[in-house]
Amino acid sequence: MSAARACLVVLALSAVAAAAAEPPRGKKPVVEFVPTPQDVVEKMLAAAKVTKADVVADLGCGDGRIVVTAARVYGCKAVGYDLDRECVKRSRAAVEKAGVGKLVRIEEADILEVDLSGVTVVTLFVGTTLNAKLLPQLEKMKAGSRVVSHVFPIPGVTPDKVLKVTSAEDDVERTVYLYTLPLMKEKAGKQ
Ligand SMILES: C[S@@+](CC[C@H](N)C(=O)[O-])C[C@H]1O[C@@H](n2cnc3c(N)ncnc32)[C@H](O)[C@@H]1O
Repeated sequence: MSAARACLVVLALSAVAAAAAEPPRGKKPVVEFVPTPQDVVEKMLAAAKVTKADVVADLGCGDGRIVVTAARVYGCKAVGYDLDRECVKRSRAAVEKAGVGKLVRIEEADILEVDLSGVTVVTLFVGTTLNAKLLPQLEKMKAGSRVVSHVFPIPGVTPDKVLKVTSAEDDVERTVYLYTLPLMKEKAGKQ
């Protein structure tokens, strides 16, 4: 990979992290759309051991690639949430193009307000600030449910697995964090 391309990827990932630290602006997403490379999406879903019986939710679904892949590869139900209208439009178009409309729905919604009690696999790529804010909702998922987060950990929660995934799209190594419910919270005061 060229140095320029590596630089662009690092800048894109930093944009997710930096934007996540900004104060909320009402109902506008504070984290911009940066796609997870398709081969990383596939590895995330494989790491979560998705099956046909799962309900996958991508919190901040961008162009819909994660929910479309979950339905296409595993035949499971999936729901994508995004606040950005353009992302909602793109995701709905991707669902239609892939012919998975019977399995996947896309909702324009603030991920901090969605009910995850019927969801068994959550995928995340929204930064540590939002990951931390999502914790009360994530904890409501039933035992055995999985949370898989691209690049950013959930602060204060110990992952079951930390994977290093290099995408063939850009040759950049990314970290993927896998958590299983009930979440293992680190003790307060732990460094
Ligand atoms: C870095 S992108 C990840 C897109 C996709 N999940 C992926 O991995 O390819 C983050 C997405 O989260 C959305 N987002 C950020 N904050 C949100 C919020 N509070 N509610 C709903 N969507 C949000 C953004 O619009 C953006 O599409």
